[in-house]
Amino acid sequence: MGYSLAKLSNTQGMLSATKIWTSSKDEGRSQINDSFRLWGLKKFDLFQVHKLLNWEEHLDTLRERRAAGQIRYIGITTSHGSRHSEMARTMETQDIDFVQFTYNVEDRDAEDRLLPLAADKGIAVIINRPFQRGTLTNRFEGKPLPTWASEYGITSWAQYLLKFVVSHPAVTCAIPATSKVEHMKENMNVLQTRLPDIKDRQRMLDYVQSL
Ligand SMILES: NC(=O)c1ccc[n+]([C@@H]2O[C@H](COP(=O)([O-])OP(=O)(O)OC[C@H]3O[C@@H](n4cnc5c(N)ncnc54)[C@H](OP(=O)(O)O)[C@@H]3O)[C@@H](O)[C@H]2O)c1
Repeated sequence: MGYSLAKLSNTQGMLSATKIWTSSKDEGRSQINDSFRLWGLKKFDLFQVHKLLNWEEHLDTLRERRAAGQIRYIGITTSHGSRHSEMARTMETQDIDFVQFTYNVEDRDAEDRLLPLAADKGIAVIINRPFQRGTLTNRFEGKPLPTWASEYGITSWAQYLLKFVVSHPAVTCAIPATSKVEHMKENMNVLQTRLPDIKDRQRMLDYVQSL
């Protein structure tokens, strides 16, 4: 990351986010120090405890760093719908700024508890696997988009799927992965056009389920 960041002339508007992933508290501290060194940053916007691994001890460390002004926001992540109960308990009891979990048209478990809880507690939400690791983009490829998709500026299934995710009122952002610059541009364009409201989101779901 440090190599890529150094190549950019303007990083305004970008958010630096990374994770700790180890069961050891000491190793967690080392990973934080390594990230500062490798990214070449004096302050991180966001540090997350990956997959809830030893979140109790790592959150203590991250809170110290946040209090010292080295980290702006702290959070925890999970994915694939796993450990949502533990995630919810953590959100209820811990002073955290961000959470990350999976949400997409097929995996909507987060709608029951995690998303309402985040809205209630004012916790920012990052959504991973918006395309269910590409399963969804592959599944709908070749199928017609509904005619009304153009009302939201949607020109592809990837945009349809992503628009559904980011239009949930509790969602802050999504992190679709791609190996292609063209896909990245297509995905980013989702934010340039109208987002569906609750009624329209239901229409999006109904259409997908009818295919
Ligand atoms: N915190 C955690 O525990 C956790 C766990 C899992 C994942 N994540 C993170 O979540 C992010 C996304 O996860 P993911 O990679 O599993 O799934 P994903 O974003 O749901 O799917 C990625 C797949 O979608 C395809 N894709 C992306 N844009 C497309 C487009 N415009 N048109 C067609 N296909 C498109 C990609 O293929 P192309 O390369 O061909 O575009 C890739 O195969 C990653 O950044 C990952 O690091 C976090």
